[in-house]
Amino acid sequence: MIRAVKGTHDILPPESAVWNRVESTAREIFDLYGFSEIRTPVFERTELFARGVGEDTDIVSKEMYTFEDRDETSLTLRPEGTAPVVRSYIEHQLYQDPQVLKLYYLGPMFRRERPQKGRYRQFHQIGAEVLGSDNPAIEAEVLEMLELFLGRLGIKESTLLVNSIGCSRCRPRFLQRLKQELAAKKDLLCEDCQRRSETNPLRVLDCKVESCQPIIDGLPSILDFLDDGCRAHFDKFLSYLKERGIGFTVIPRLVRGLDYYTRTTFEITSRILGAQNTLIGGGRYDGLAELLEGPPTQGFGFALGLERLILVVQQTGNLMASLPPQLFLAPLGEAAFARSTLLARDLRRQGIRCAYDFEPRSLKSALRLANKLQAQFALIIGEAELHSGKFQLKRMSDGEQVEVSAEQLVERMRG
Ligand code: HAM
Repeated sequence: MIRAVKGTHDILPPESAVWNRVESTAREIFDLYGFSEIRTPVFERTELFARGVGEDTDIVSKEMYTFEDRDETSLTLRPEGTAPVVRSYIEHQLYQDPQVLKLYYLGPMFRRERPQKGRYRQFHQIGAEVLGSDNPAIEAEVLEMLELFLGRLGIKESTLLVNSIGCSRCRPRFLQRLKQELAAKKDLLCEDCQRRSETNPLRVLDCKVESCQPIIDGLPSILDFLDDGCRAHFDKFLSYLKERGIGFTVIPRLVRGLDYYTRTTFEITSRILGAQNTLIGGGRYDGLAELLEGPPTQGFGFALGLERLILVVQQTGNLMASLPPQLFLAPLGEAAFARSTLLARDLRRQGIRCAYDFEPRSLKSALRLANKLQAQFALIIGEAELHSGKFQLKRMSDGEQVEVSAEQLVERMRG
């Protein structure tokens, strides 16, 4: 038997209906906030991620699906969506639009991580990016949008963690101090952190290795190193959250696993998820466009893991499975079956969800199936009904049966 590749998975019914509902809810809410969809390719030139996400991140150094094309170009299956969106923004000169640009995307991402619950090698993200403003009000608005979205899905228990990691002006001072402190404790750090403590010390704060945690806990807080501009930006952001009644916790070591972040970073976590508890991650990336040879452009955005979101939606009982048929057609005999297929066509054209079986069934067995499918009504079509043009419509909840013509049927179903 050929199985799906490790770390990938099929999305089967009825769960696929939950996916559709979540995706359409996202589209609806993002539309309310003025976001438009962008679709970028699933593979890009490797250098986009190497430069954009950062050579020293876990994603780029260990987790990318990189391959050589026949013309020897190095290509990579996208591990995330922000760098491709900014690449596209620069390539198509979307910065010429005088307004702030709000884009969202939805689709598969690829990271060669160790698979476990909530962690896959092909997973799906819904993400959104706002390009062209450094106003912290944008950040609060995006978090407000996420609150509405999660609320719509019935997710009540989530925690918002926020931080500021400063900018290219104030961060070097913090990094220098971090380097000094880490050098003194180098022997106690994991192998990766020993390297990172010299190449990219901020990454140490993001390390998940157990033995590194007490050392990280004792490191200085980046919030004490913010310059006036970054401090004021962060304070405004927090005050906008408070104004909206959005609860949060400031976590000074929240630096996130990608190098492009500046100033605000955030995560939304859920207890339900266990070890992989980050549902949504995001932040500001004011230098990314320039790094990719575009004009200076401020950016802020987030991405959420759909597999994780679906786990939470399912566990909080808000299943939103596919809708049952409104009408189950029960033909008795060949001629009635032929009539049923055409009747179903007409009803479906008028927006009524119909079902019928392709194998001959007795009335009793047809009604049993209608019950199993949780159909609201069953329509009995026998020899007599074919001649009279009147059908027996049975309400499944209480067995009430009325005679209807094909025309009355539509009215009845709509009612
Ligand atoms: P990220 O934190 O790497 O950020 O990923 C965002 C979310 O994707 C995570 O919180 C998680 O829910 C989900 N995720 C990541 N890796 C996996 C995996 N292996 N399996 C299942 N789910 C996963 C970004 O990707 C940034 N581009 C977010 C962003 C947008 N920042 C600014 N704009």
